[in-house]
Amino acid sequence: MQKLLAANWKMYKTREQAESWARSMIQALPPQGLSGRSVLVFPPATAIAAVAQVFSGHPSLSVGGQNFYPGTEGAFTGEISVEMLRDAGAQWVLAGHSERRHIMGEADALVAQKVLFALEHGLRVMLCIGETLEEREAGKLTEVLERQLGAVFSAAGKLDAASLAGRFAVAYEPVWAIGTGKVAGTAEVAEAHAVVRRLLESFAGESRIPVLYGGSVKPANAGAIVHLDNVDGLLVGGASLDPQSFLQIVSA
Ligand code: PGA
Repeated sequence: MQKLLAANWKMYKTREQAESWARSMIQALPPQGLSGRSVLVFPPATAIAAVAQVFSGHPSLSVGGQNFYPGTEGAFTGEISVEMLRDAGAQWVLAGHSERRHIMGEADALVAQKVLFALEHGLRVMLCIGETLEEREAGKLTEVLERQLGAVFSAAGKLDAASLAGRFAVAYEPVWAIGTGKVAGTAEVAEAHAVVRRLLESFAGESRIPVLYGGSVKPANAGAIVHLDNVDGLLVGGASLDPQSFLQIVSA
């Protein structure tokens, strides 16, 4: 399976900064595309169109939205719709990122609703899941991942391998490793990814849904993680902001 290298910029970068980052990427990557790898960037909503325009037509580069509201249109002040994201050039969207779960208070049921809404309305979805330090220390890794994935698959009823092919990815991001500099060791990543893989097989009957790792990925540790069994790519926050650092991760 192709490795997917995703950059989550969170609330960073103006349009100009985003465009300049996107140009660095275009200059560094072969115009015919990368072999065995693809790059996906989640800019802030205001910069999606600028990045999509620079990336346009490049076979290895795509753009996604970090967030949206699960409704077609209406009186939802401050929110952005799937159609608006698509109109700006997004092909993907994130759902269930730990910052949205823990800072914005998004519960499993809302995350599930968002995943289904985006899939039904033609966007690809990267669902983020992961345990807090407290949950890990209490031995609840499998329980938490099962609950977070189960919320999506039980709400869907009919999400199976065929309907998800090429349209759905999971990012395992232990909350204690996000933005903390504390990276999970390769044994911890391998163990958690095996759990996610097993759960996906039982929920969707599918073994080839890409499962990415995220949480303090840096150029120095990207290679060791991305080549592990059951790791199909990386979701990178802080270390994706500088194009040179992200390019090192892309080629790790
Ligand atoms: P980080 O963020 O790489 O800065 O830890 C990862 C993420 O939040 O997706």
